[in-house]
Amino acid sequence: MKLLIINGPNLNMLGIREPAIYGHTTYEDLKALVSTTCEACQIEHQIFQSNHEGAIVDEIQAAYGIYDGIIINPAAYTHTSIAILDALKAVGIPAVEVHLSNVREREDFRQISYAGMACVHTIMGKGIEGYKEAILYLIAKLQR
Ligand code: DQA
Repeated sequence: MKLLIINGPNLNMLGIREPAIYGHTTYEDLKALVSTTCEACQIEHQIFQSNHEGAIVDEIQAAYGIYDGIIINPAAYTHTSIAILDALKAVGIPAVEVHLSNVREREDFRQISYAGMACVHTIMGKGIEGYKEAILYLIAKLQR
């Protein structure tokens, strides 16, 4: 089993950006948790981060035929990108949406998730632990 973890814009700034919302956990911490979780479950994985919408679309397209599952935090593109929604639909790879913060309790403009419309599950408000939960969820779903 191979999982692709995709992170969108500004997630590389974790630990620095808006600590009152995202805490002091760094992007390195996030990557370490993902790697430890995947290694413990003996599954292959790749982590990708980009600040560019097209690069994320390219990465989703390139996953076709290679990855069994996708975990995606499109960050701000969650609320704007029909291109990412269409790419997820195009490849048809089971995807789980993750958000560090509880976007439901935030601004009105964060209340729509385009990417989420192509995802089998959404986890939010659990910080980087949400990625671990998403990995375990996808593994269980794919093994069914
Ligand atoms: C986020 C929530 C988004 O609204 C925001 O634009 C982000 C991060 C989260 O993980 O909580 O960049 O996806």
